[in-house]
Amino acid sequence: MDGCSVLVIDTLRATTTLTTILDRGATKVLTCASLDEAFHYKRQDSTLILGGERHNRPVPGFDAGNSPFDYPSELVEGRAVILTTTNGTQAVAKVNGAERVGLACLLNAATAARWQQEQKSEALVVCAGTVGHVSWEDVLTAGAVINEWSEHDWTDAARLAWTAFTVNQARIAQSILQSRHAQHLLSSGMERDVSYAARINQSSTVPVRGPDGWFYRNA
Ligand code: MLT
Repeated sequence: MDGCSVLVIDTLRATTTLTTILDRGATKVLTCASLDEAFHYKRQDSTLILGGERHNRPVPGFDAGNSPFDYPSELVEGRAVILTTTNGTQAVAKVNGAERVGLACLLNAATAARWQQEQKSEALVVCAGTVGHVSWEDVLTAGAVINEWSEHDWTDAARLAWTAFTVNQARIAQSILQSRHAQHLLSSGMERDVSYAARINQSSTVPVRGPDGWFYRNA
């Protein structure tokens, strides 16, 4: 991973939500792997917004959940957010050693692809998946990112993701709806989160990890 630029993807919903938080005017976002770590930061600074989920549900004592709709501009403008989620922020923790880390989702696929190419280093795309299993929506997003690159030295995994995306490109929202995680969110009444996350290239924000470990807009 040394010298790589890494894009982490968790389309449903962590990287979609984090991109939205910065889009709506938050100054920065810190991803935490554990609830304890998140509460620790909040004890140190009560102005922080504590957000996230465990098993798709808001965490008792947190200010917000993991829905992009939990973070309107009126709440986040000019503020810093701590986010911890079941899979997405764990995937970010796993690439702590990487030199450059950005976050991608369908909303920012083209901008994230451009950001990664500008790094002029080996590109690694990490799909968070769901508790260790491949997630269809993350593979589609990886394909949307790869679709922006010229074909050069792709791994077979990259080719698989690209093929999944191009075959489903014309019906991406319907395709995402078929994923296990989307079905789970739907059965829990979160269909608007799924529809929101299934919109492609709607944001020019790429959350990029700064030297202090926080994510900033297009840093
Ligand atoms: C996660 O990180 O596991 C997801 O974002 C779960 C979710 O809230 O849908």
